[in-house]
Amino acid sequence: MTVYIYPGSFDPFTNGHFDIARRAAGLCDRLIVAVLTNSRKKSHFTSAERVAMARVALQSIPNIEVEAFEGLLVDFFKQHQASAVVRGLRSESDFRFEAELAAANKLLLPTYETCLLPCRIDLAFNSSSIVREVAAYGGDISNMVPAALVNQITVRLRKDAGLSQAQHLNSEDSSHI
Ligand code: PNS
Repeated sequence: MTVYIYPGSFDPFTNGHFDIARRAAGLCDRLIVAVLTNSRKKSHFTSAERVAMARVALQSIPNIEVEAFEGLLVDFFKQHQASAVVRGLRSESDFRFEAELAAANKLLLPTYETCLLPCRIDLAFNSSSIVREVAAYGGDISNMVPAALVNQITVRLRKDAGLSQAQHLNSEDSSHI
């Protein structure tokens, strides 16, 4: 059985993540979406929220599971007897980071392999940080994240940014003008 791992912060899960996960699931028997938790990297959403959002978004794809992981990715890789880690590539700057990550992990574990998937061109500028920014200013994220997550992410990010629901409704009204 070929097991691939798709790791990330998923803070929050976006349409770009969904597209990479869906395509990677077609390349292996089992894809584990591994949500980084307890990291020194601060996240906006909690680990439990990020895992739950990825599960909701990916529930229609039968060979995908979502798990939280902490510590080194190579340990998670060994634990699951994985064949490769999948990462999405949006740009040249992503490539630089991904090449370093792949090389460091290969030094730690010689059997570690990386599979880099170029992202869909229309999603090249979509990212979790842009979603957080747009929603915090009251913008519409419905083309950026899976439909099942739009409301939850919007409400949470607007609340955290101190925007009221009235401002949310006003911005929806004005978008039709
Ligand atoms: O979505 P992200 O934030 O780009 O994902 C980065 C991630 C989770 C793949 C990376 O930070 C990671 O693997 N963290 C776990 C710790 C680790 O193993 N680091 C690599 C050793 S250099």
